[in-house]
Amino acid sequence: AIERTLSIIKPDAVAKNVIGQIYSRFEGAGLKIVAARMTQLSREQAEGFYAAHKERGFFKDLVDFMVSGPVMIQALEGENAVAVHRDLMGATDPKKADKGTIRADFADSIDANAVHGSDAVDAAAIEIAYFFSK
Ligand code: CMP
Repeated sequence: AIERTLSIIKPDAVAKNVIGQIYSRFEGAGLKIVAARMTQLSREQAEGFYAAHKERGFFKDLVDFMVSGPVMIQALEGENAVAVHRDLMGATDPKKADKGTIRADFADSIDANAVHGSDAVDAAAIEIAYFFSK
């Protein structure tokens, strides 16, 4: 089915100047960028976005990192978009990510892991609505 998913290019990848290379991977996999915005997240925005992780030990480091520089946020649309995007990203921990994935190629650590992607269609709808109007 045609789905939408939320993608965030995180501060480490924006600082590395690889937004275009990452966009090319989306486009090459048939994902269409249907909305996009570069922004510097406030602490409130980052905490709200990651609210599901609030009780995890890594929450503060995660929020500190996500507000450390600009991010590029986009909604991607295409056949099976959630899974296609997750396959492009690779495992959360770049040390475990398959060769040729975005995280294997551009990420340095589980915190500075280059990209975020929705993990399911229902989560994607919530995440897209968090950043973009209809
Ligand atoms: P992301 O897909 O943006 O969702 C939550 C983020 O928390 C994750 O990517 C990682 O960058 C970060 N994180 C740090 N430590 C962990 C961990 N142990 N498990 C999962 N995510 C972690």
